[in-house]
Amino acid sequence: QGQVGILPRTAKDGKMITCESPWWTSGFYPGTLWYCYEYSNDPQVRAAAEEMTSRVERQKYTTSNHDVGFIINCSFGNGYRLTHNEAYREVIETAAKSLSTRFHPVTGCTRSWNSKKWQFSVIIDNMMNLDLLFYVNHLTNDSKYKEVALRHAETTMKNHFRNDHSSYHVVSYNSDGSVEMKCTHQGKNDDSSWARGQAWGVYGYTSCYRESKDAAFLQQAQNIAALIMERVKTDDAIPLWDYDAPNTPETPRDASAASITASALIELSTLVEDGQVYFDYAEKLLKSLSSDAYLAKIGTNQGFILMHSTGSLPNGSEIDTPINYADYYYLEALVRYMQVKGIDYKSL
Ligand code: GLY
Repeated sequence: QGQVGILPRTAKDGKMITCESPWWTSGFYPGTLWYCYEYSNDPQVRAAAEEMTSRVERQKYTTSNHDVGFIINCSFGNGYRLTHNEAYREVIETAAKSLSTRFHPVTGCTRSWNSKKWQFSVIIDNMMNLDLLFYVNHLTNDSKYKEVALRHAETTMKNHFRNDHSSYHVVSYNSDGSVEMKCTHQGKNDDSSWARGQAWGVYGYTSCYRESKDAAFLQQAQNIAALIMERVKTDDAIPLWDYDAPNTPETPRDASAASITASALIELSTLVEDGQVYFDYAEKLLKSLSSDAYLAKIGTNQGFILMHSTGSLPNGSEIDTPINYADYYYLEALVRYMQVKGIDYKSL
């Protein structure tokens, strides 16, 4: 079942911190390499992407949390998209089956974590696992994957969002589908707007609209985009780690939230007639991320591309540091940017 091995995760005290395949971010470095291969068509990069991808294969059987979507879609999903390696297809389908076991029809959601703290927790991040289900719907023509994904998105739209279109991080459900509680795990407080959570939301609802053409999902994506653009406090548009965090020079920013948002807004700009405002905002984010303030010089930053992301400030983890998913979504956003602009890597 693939090779066991370590993968780059983040950096601390001048050293790279690695992870093994069960950690939720294990698929991002393989995915980053696949985007590098997409840019360059370099066989050496492809070989590295294949090696790193094989290291996460075991996770296709994961039924104990929702992260199988992140892990397998970013690695094997991109690998299959670019190579059509049939062995990858089996991994992706198995992963979607594993994720679907977490869907509870009465609640109308796939469960995020099996934590004792909550009956049935669903985090806004889970919107990102829907792309695995959409992809397998296309691969198999089995509509149940899409049905599960869209039902999850509908339930989340109903319960995760406040009147101003900001999102709670965690919603937990009782077994009859009623809401047990709404709170945070990684945000400043239960009622705050955690920056990456808003980014996961706009990305996820953009995917849902792409797949369903349901106007309610488009409206949701546009509402979240408007909130992000209105609430950002920094001149360069890279958000503080939480939109309710104090606007001081010491408050850490989250470059990963900016990368995810940039990628989502470029896609959103292609799905609506008046999408220029989203494209322009994404371009501003990409310019900021590509400046010396965030883009590391080659040979520094323990090999990561971007500086200044924040993983989980309340838990004292990964604060103002490189993180693999900031790099992944930055490259994804750049691929999307180049596609919209008709720019070819070789002519740069
Ligand atoms: N999915 C966990 C996070 O965004 O940190």
